[in-house]
Amino acid sequence: MSHKIRIAQPHIDDSDIEYIVDILRRGLLAHGKIVEEFEREFSRYLGVQHVVAVSNGTIALELALRAHGVGLGDEVIVPSYTFIATSNTVVFTGAKPVFCDVEWDTFNIDPKCVESKISRRTKAIIPVHLFGHPADMDPILKVAKENNIVVIEDAAQAHGARYRGRVTGSLADSAAFSFYATKNIAMGEGGAVATGNSEVAEKIRLYRNHGQKERYIHVKLGGNYRITSIQAALGITQLRKLDELNRRRRKNAEYLNRYLGKLGWIETPVEKDWAYHVYHQYVVKVASDAPVSRDELYARLREAGVEAMIYYPLPLNMQPVYREMGIHDEKCCPTAMELSKRSLAIPVHPGLSIKDLEYIVEIFEKI
Ligand SMILES: Cc1ncc(COP(=O)(O)O)c(C=O)c1O
Repeated sequence: MSHKIRIAQPHIDDSDIEYIVDILRRGLLAHGKIVEEFEREFSRYLGVQHVVAVSNGTIALELALRAHGVGLGDEVIVPSYTFIATSNTVVFTGAKPVFCDVEWDTFNIDPKCVESKISRRTKAIIPVHLFGHPADMDPILKVAKENNIVVIEDAAQAHGARYRGRVTGSLADSAAFSFYATKNIAMGEGGAVATGNSEVAEKIRLYRNHGQKERYIHVKLGGNYRITSIQAALGITQLRKLDELNRRRRKNAEYLNRYLGKLGWIETPVEKDWAYHVYHQYVVKVASDAPVSRDELYARLREAGVEAMIYYPLPLNMQPVYREMGIHDEKCCPTAMELSKRSLAIPVHPGLSIKDLEYIVEIFEKI
């Protein structure tokens, strides 16, 4: 059936449309000054010296890893509970992803596990700020510094989130963002690397455009990872309302917490006292003794026109593709395994009306 209430919905208003129309009238299509303007505005927002816009979040991660020198023979520590782009990009560089279990309450990588997985080969750690809640960065940054390991934030789902008052994407050596259609800043497709490291930024600018330093002189192996001016225009207008839209997500989350928290069989999302959660997704945990199973609840919501989603039904350490490659890990991640059975995402996006929220709560209450 077609869903009445979608899990995500781009928030496009007249400010986006007018700006894009203006860009089209000016004949600005390809990469150029509008992309540079987006990069400047996002870098100002993050308080990070360089932002390099690239085609998507996957390539942003891969280029960041490459620019930091990650490659064949290296290991990169990643959480087991995230979207597969986080670990696939490690494989693309020739390095090996090493999976860490996550924390039950925040879904994010467990810093104690990170410490236990460090080896002579560890070159980088990719903490993911999953669903919009920052990972616990300080202990990770500490152990990384002691061992001379690079930290790259995967901030694909956390635009405008904060860790101890600092914005995610500004906390480590580099950070990767995705601007896919469902993200808090949505371009349709798009991504960026943010970094304070000028050498890394320069390398990524080269990789993005066939390694071309002067016209038709290629100093690095690169490709075409550029975005268009139209994508960048959306980035600019979406960024300008990011904080306001995040506040609306938080209000929706507060409403859901208030009512779903009372049921006794739903664990609502946690916001640590050091965190500012931007609710890219609102993910609850269904108790094992709940009146319905997670999968029944998923089906009931969908039947009622509410597009629930399961993020994620199988942790990365168990994915068939990694089994085939011999890099899976059956034992590493019991918490991630349990979360994959209990988690359910329900709509929280800023386009929800109070009626939508009431309707969602009602379905839960009837159970
Ligand atoms: C945590 C995480 N990392 C990386 C990505 C990859 O971004 P993209 O889809 O723009 O390639 C995503 C996208 O969904 C993501 O959720």
